[in-house]
Amino acid sequence: MKLINLADTAQALVSNGKGILAADETVPTLTKRFDAHKIESTPDSRRTYREMFFTTPGIGEFISGVILQDETIHQKSSQRVAMADVLSQQGILPGIKVDNGAKPLAGSSEEKITEGLDGLRERLKEYYKLGARFAKWRAVITVSDLLPSINCIHVNANALARYAALCQEQDIVPIIEPEVLMDGSHTIERCEEITSAVLHAVFNALFDQKIYFEGMLLKPNMIISGKECLKQASIEEVAAATLRVLRRFVPPAVPGMVFLSGGQDHLSATGHLNAINQSEGPKPWKLSFSYGRALQDEALKAWNGKDENLKIGQQAFFHRAKCDNAAALGRYVKAMENESAKI
Ligand code: 13P
Repeated sequence: MKLINLADTAQALVSNGKGILAADETVPTLTKRFDAHKIESTPDSRRTYREMFFTTPGIGEFISGVILQDETIHQKSSQRVAMADVLSQQGILPGIKVDNGAKPLAGSSEEKITEGLDGLRERLKEYYKLGARFAKWRAVITVSDLLPSINCIHVNANALARYAALCQEQDIVPIIEPEVLMDGSHTIERCEEITSAVLHAVFNALFDQKIYFEGMLLKPNMIISGKECLKQASIEEVAAATLRVLRRFVPPAVPGMVFLSGGQDHLSATGHLNAINQSEGPKPWKLSFSYGRALQDEALKAWNGKDENLKIGQQAFFHRAKCDNAAALGRYVKAMENESAKI
């Protein structure tokens, strides 16, 4: 394990307001997204879609890393270049999703445990050879009046720590994603209570398993009202609650947090990140983004599966990434939305 390399990689991923593009939807998930636009999902159409993002001119100014999934890291671009190399040519670090998805948790009818630890050491070795320098593992926590169970929190925290230890052993920076879902009618206070318990359990497990905090990143949810909650918290309330929780539970040794968007629309995801970064008070880590839907949705709509739209898809992506980069520096203003992307 090379501690300096891990720390350098983790810091590079959150430097200068840069953030991560999560382009690691599994084939069934991306197919669902394509279906909504009546785009056929084939290995070729998925490759074209991903390549549109990765080859956007100048995108390395705003994007430090891209999370790939297994199909994409084994694909070559239309120019016959390995996808990881396409990213490296843009100065972007390739990353890889290594969990095998959230499966029903035995003993609980509504909760999930993320699987994928068996054989992970060998898969990490292969991914490293293919160019991956960081990885992602996502745990999902469902919120209701009665959930999550203590058991669900603990088994997921333990799996996240086991994954992180294996990554660091293989010189791969682990991104640790314990996602408290926005689905449901819970209040922002309930989100704060549950996220606090989850982060407490996750950092206990990381400590027990001797994770090198300087060489990891956390991918948390923001503290936000449930999607169906009648009272939606303001941007300022989200920023204050998110910082309160992170200050209580995330050690300053962790170089950065890269938030997930979790179903927020792109403008909310940008606005919240900006408000978090503009808030007063101690922020001993970089606070940036690792968005999937919030970075991709507008580009997917613009592309719509047609080669002649690739350029406007790239413009949409460039614009969003530029706004999110500004938000990660606390410099976003709404007027930026009216600028057109010059690429
Ligand atoms: P969203 O930003 O769409 O939530 O995706 C981020 C991600 O990587 C979820 O695992």
